[in-house]
Amino acid sequence: MSSQPGLRTVRILGIESSCDETAAAIVEDGRRILSNVIASQIELHKKYGGVFPEVASRQHVMNISAVVEEAMAKAHASFNDLDAIAVTRGPGLAGSLVVGVNAAKGLALTTGLPLLGINHLEAHIYSAWLHEADDPNPSPIPEFPLITLIVSGGHSEIVLMKSHMQYVRLGGTLDDAAGEAFDKAARLIGLEYPGGPSIQKAAIFGDPARFSFPRSRLEGSWDFSFSGVKTAVLRKVRELEKESPELPVADLAASFQESVVSILFEKTMAAAHRYEANGILIVGGVSANQALRDLFLNQQTYPVLIPKMAYCTDNAAMVAAAGFHRFEAEKFDELGFDVFPTWPLSRVNLQTES
Ligand code: KG4
Ligand code: ZN
Repeated sequence: MSSQPGLRTVRILGIESSCDETAAAIVEDGRRILSNVIASQIELHKKYGGVFPEVASRQHVMNISAVVEEAMAKAHASFNDLDAIAVTRGPGLAGSLVVGVNAAKGLALTTGLPLLGINHLEAHIYSAWLHEADDPNPSPIPEFPLITLIVSGGHSEIVLMKSHMQYVRLGGTLDDAAGEAFDKAARLIGLEYPGGPSIQKAAIFGDPARFSFPRSRLEGSWDFSFSGVKTAVLRKVRELEKESPELPVADLAASFQESVVSILFEKTMAAAHRYEANGILIVGGVSANQALRDLFLNQQTYPVLIPKMAYCTDNAAMVAAAGFHRFEAEKFDELGFDVFPTWPLSRVNLQTES
């Protein structure tokens, strides 16, 4: 591995195990991806219709060493080439987080590299800065203030960022996260887990105007709610099943998707307007949704940055990218730090549980 003479680069090994992906990556200066390895457990969890926590943590234990080794090998890196190890500390499943955190601690202990405990939501945000090492045309660096929409399986939040690592949570879901809503709606209409990609696929041939599902706007706040649309899908499915055992899956999927993405789009655009944003970031698993991407990319008012599909869902490159900013600010963690399964973004700079 060679570095450019005269230029100091910071190389960070990222480790992610908060949910059902065991991942490791090496990223330079918070942007350039030298390697990005992901062992997905999706196939294992399909039969449960969601993530089965005990199965997830056992699988992380089985995968973690090989995943880290592969990330090091693909980047042609040795531990001497690295500056720090960043690992997801929370939020996430406790039994899953602990596997990544323990692996990172073990490596820090043997190599002497500093440790950075990273908030998973902060990591999703920094996925917007990532690009492949050989990308001749990387996306521009986002300019503050930014409005960030984080939409994943566990979280849906609108966050104002005035500078690096500073987050003001404006609002978010009052009930189901956007990804969770996709997963639950998919189950109701008979599509497999994870629901987001299944609904998107089914919706391609569907009519989004066939069913009118509620778009709960919660005027006067930046919050949103998806339980109404989920209940409406359930009612519609029961009603349709009485008429025929064959559900109009494509139309149900398209109408549901239309309702969820339009709520997310309207709220985010309104927040960008109110806070005079210089740009919008859309991150997290649901940002892989093509209908959501199209809505944002087709408007001309704000520059919008949505990571490449591969960096929308959980990965460790985003953990290393967030780690870069914590490294530059010298916000290191002691070897004794613990996982923080409920760590909210609003407490990300406090780093303590109490
Ligand atoms: O960020 P992520 O990989 O894990 C969490 O941190 O939760 O997000 C996973 C979520 C799942 O709920 C999945 O259904 C959703 O992202 N998702 C999608 C799409 N791809 C993944 N939702 C809508 N459309 C997609 N194409
Ligand atoms: Zn995630």
